[in-house]
Amino acid sequence: MQAVQLLLLMAGASKGLESICNATESICFGALGGPVYLRLMTNASGHDLAVYRGDTVVFNFRNSRSVFYKESNTTPVLQRWQFVPDNGTLIINPAERRDAGTYRAEVYEQSTGKGAGYYTVQLIMEAPVSDVGLSIRSMKCSSNGDSLQFSWSLDGRPVGEADADLSSDNQTILLKGDATGELTCTASNHVSRANTTITKQLCSG
Ligand SMILES: *[C@@H]1O[C@H](CO)[C@@H](O)[C@H](O)[C@H]1NC(C)=O
Ligand SMILES: *[C@@H]1O[C@H](CO)[C@@H](O)[C@H](O)[C@H]1NC(C)=O
Ligand SMILES: *[C@@H]1O[C@H](CO)[C@@H](O)[C@H](O)[C@H]1NC(C)=O
Ligand SMILES: *[C@@H]1O[C@H](CO)[C@@H](O)[C@H](O)[C@H]1NC(C)=O
Repeated sequence: MQAVQLLLLMAGASKGLESICNATESICFGALGGPVYLRLMTNASGHDLAVYRGDTVVFNFRNSRSVFYKESNTTPVLQRWQFVPDNGTLIINPAERRDAGTYRAEVYEQSTGKGAGYYTVQLIMEAPVSDVGLSIRSMKCSSNGDSLQFSWSLDGRPVGEADADLSSDNQTILLKGDATGELTCTASNHVSRANTTITKQLCSG
């Protein structure tokens, strides 16, 4: 039998994926290269803020002015970081791997300086999934991106044990007997997903 290789490529939606997180969520997944919206509070008006990553102050919002600090105070970061007081949102655009970390926003009443609470959020950066490829025979689904998970469906239904064997990482499928139809592989991670489909026909010989 000849080794038939079929590679289908899908336009990868890998640029500029938005990640929107509320600081009420303790974990935030950000897509590399896209804008990350980290909503620290609903409205910063009347409040001061100190935002730490780990032990380091990364920015202050004081008397209605944002000041980005130290390691975040390099030119590229200054251009990438923005704080929108009206909706309490820290915008990192484009987000990079080095933006990952545990952020803690401390909120103070502007008039009294009294503490008004704090939020902690862990930002995890992931590369979005990219082109999804399928190769026929021992069909292997591949994609780039972090923390990839693969899943398969045949004619829109999840592939069951009767239809195929899956490798332990779900990346490779071996269709049983004469299973035919539209075979779809979906690659996903926490920030994105993509799929590609081939029509598997019964090939004798
Ligand atoms: C934020 O609060 C200030 C002061 O209370 C108010 O003027 C402003 O409209 C608020 N912004 C939004 C988006 O609600
Ligand atoms: C906050 O405001 C910015 C700038 O107008 C906007 O891009 C962003 O989507 C807003 N975020 C929320 C949660 O409203
Ligand atoms: C493989 O797929 C099965 C069924 O969809 C799922 O339960 C399992 O967690 C997946 N394994 C991996 C390593 O993704
Ligand atoms: C494949 O992706 C497209 C576009 O994102 C989506 O509309 C479709 O439902 C997906 N198909 C499957 C089988 O997941």
